[in-house]
Amino acid sequence: MYFKQILDERCGCASYLVASRRSHEAAVIDPSTQTEQYEGLLRERNFQLRYVIDTHVHADHVSGARELRAKHGAELCMHESAGVTYPFRPLKDGEELPLGQLRLCVLHTPGHRIELVSVLIVNPPRSPEPSMVLTGDSLLVGDVGRPDFGGGDPSSQYESLTRLLRLPDWVAVFPGHFEGPCGKGMCGRPSTTIGFERLYNPLARLERGAFVATLTDGVPARPLNMTAIEATNRGTADMAWAMLTTAPEIREIDITGLESRPADALVLDVREPEEYAHGHVPGATSLPQADLATRLGEVPPDRPVFTLCERGTRSYRAAQFLVQMGIVQVTSVRGGTAAWRAAGKPLALGEVRVAKPRVTESEWIHAGATPHGT
Ligand SMILES: [Fe+2]
Repeated sequence: MYFKQILDERCGCASYLVASRRSHEAAVIDPSTQTEQYEGLLRERNFQLRYVIDTHVHADHVSGARELRAKHGAELCMHESAGVTYPFRPLKDGEELPLGQLRLCVLHTPGHRIELVSVLIVNPPRSPEPSMVLTGDSLLVGDVGRPDFGGGDPSSQYESLTRLLRLPDWVAVFPGHFEGPCGKGMCGRPSTTIGFERLYNPLARLERGAFVATLTDGVPARPLNMTAIEATNRGTADMAWAMLTTAPEIREIDITGLESRPADALVLDVREPEEYAHGHVPGATSLPQADLATRLGEVPPDRPVFTLCERGTRSYRAAQFLVQMGIVQVTSVRGGTAAWRAAGKPLALGEVRVAKPRVTESEWIHAGATPHGT
């Protein structure tokens, strides 16, 4: 067999190329829109692309699955409940996709999203047992996928995790993410084993009630442009441009600079609505980063824009996206609302009172943010 994990530092995603070196048939799992990286491998190795599998409808990056299907005539496979608007081969739990001597076995493991499938890889000439499993955003390394991306459910995630952890110890686990906003405690390694996770994944030791409480208490902010990306992957929008693909250097100021901003400046608070309601810099307008692309028309191209979040990471990425879209008078506020609060400055409250926002600050600083955008 042939197996390649491809890591995308920008969105913290992992995609995979699996092939039979006997039959030269290949499958690509969870491809990004940078399809040339898979096509280069296919050409080099003289593989024919037979399947493109999206483990689920992604909310944090645009899938390259339809592009690969169109170019290579491969079957685009997703779980039968995917609910996308374009044609695909509907997969059922327990189904096996032959790939030369290999078998790709479909496990329905909902929780992160209803349609999420894991793919068990079996190589019968080597062993009747599976040697690896691609888990999408069900089991992550040291974590599981968050359940609040539409159609997700923490109780189903508990059942899916329990099911995956019944696999043999030696099965190698290759997740759909090694970092990023789809989980909140990923360890950063790109792979693990079932045995290790059964022993040391902190969520594996919890009974159902505690597991559900842990998953629902505190989640990272929804990803940048999630609304546009999810709709694009569902087939109801065509907004692949919503992916942040550039990393321009962004001018930053601190809260003192924010106070002395020009009178016509727009201050955009890109945090989640509940964070905004809990307390925001007076005069700031709420536009969560998840909705930035779909509400881009609300950002004036000819006025200074100051992006603001909790600590400065999300605002930096949002500013980079605005520059990518041609809105160039953009400044990110270093230290964010936390610095404003720490300086003892007054905060305005939203109309809906929020005792404590559920949003946890992620340590994740990639997706085009420079390391100083902490
Ligand atoms: Fe996901």
